Amino acid sequence: MPLPESRNNFKMENKGINIPPDKLPKHIAIIMDGNGRWAAARGLPRLAGHRAGTDNLRRIITACIEFGIPYLTIYAFSTENWGRPAEEVRGLLHILEDMIDRELQELHEEGVQLRHIGHLDRLKPRLRKKVIDAVELTKNNTRLILNVAFNYGGRDEIVCAIRRMIKDNVREENVTPDLVSDYLFTAGLPDPDLIIRTSGELRGSNFLIWQGAYAEWYFTPTYWPDFDKKELQHALEEYSQRDRRFGQIPTKR
Ligand code: FPP
Repeated sequence: MPLPESRNNFKMENKGINIPPDKLPKHIAIIMDGNGRWAAARGLPRLAGHRAGTDNLRRIITACIEFGIPYLTIYAFSTENWGRPAEEVRGLLHILEDMIDRELQELHEEGVQLRHIGHLDRLKPRLRKKVIDAVELTKNNTRLILNVAFNYGGRDEIVCAIRRMIKDNVREENVTPDLVSDYLFTAGLPDPDLIIRTSGELRGSNFLIWQGAYAEWYFTPTYWPDFDKKELQHALEEYSQRDRRFGQIPTKR
C-alpha cells in the first residue's frame, strides 16, 4: 500500500523532550515482552497481563505522537505465537479486535495511520475485515504510522519476498538490498532506528531481521505493562547519545 505523499514531510512535534529532532529516531520498533510475568507477579492470569500491555501500548502511542516520532512498529503476535495455549491465542485475537473496536476512531482523529505486517489469512473473516477496514480508513493519516506486526515473522517475511521475486521473474543481476526491501511487508517504510525490547530478554526473536540490520537496541528489565513514557524518554536520550556508524569509522572519540 503506498504511503501518503507527505510521508517525508513529517512535522517533528518534539514536545516535552529535550533532544534535538535530528537526534531522535524516526522509526521505533518495540518487542512488548513480559506481559505474562507481569501478570504472574500479581497472581493474575496471563491475559490480564496482555490487557495491561494493551493499555500501556495506548499510552506509548500517545507519547510517540507527543515526542514527534513518525513511525512506530509493534510486535503484537509472532508466527510462532500460534503455539501458545488456545485460550491465550484466542485472548490475543480478541484483544486485537477489541482494540480496533474501542480505539480506532480516536486513533484516526489523532492522525494515526494503521498498517499491518504479516499474514491475515489465519484470522476469522470478520476480524480480517476489521483490520483491512482500519488500514483503509486511516491510510491518509500522517502524524504517526503505527505498524502492527501480527502473525508476523522475519524469516517468513524474507521467504515470501523471495517467492514473490521469483514469481515476478526478477533477474539475478537486479537483486539488490533496496529491491529486497521493496518486496518485504515493510516496503516504503524506513528501517527502524531503535528497537526496544522489554522484560530483560536479550534476543531479537525473528523481529525485523532484515530491516533491523543497523538498528540500535535498547534492552530494559521492565515488563512491558510498566514501560512508561518516562522510560521511553530515557531510551530516546540513550539513543541520542549513540554514535551510529553503519560500518564506517567513528565520528567522535
Ligand atoms: C510477549 O509477552 C507479548 C506478546 C506475545 C503479546 C503482546 C501483545 C500486547 C502487548 C497486546 C497488544 C496487542 C495487540 C493485538 C494490539 P509474553 O506473553 O511472552 O510475556 P512473558 O515472556 O512474561 O510470558
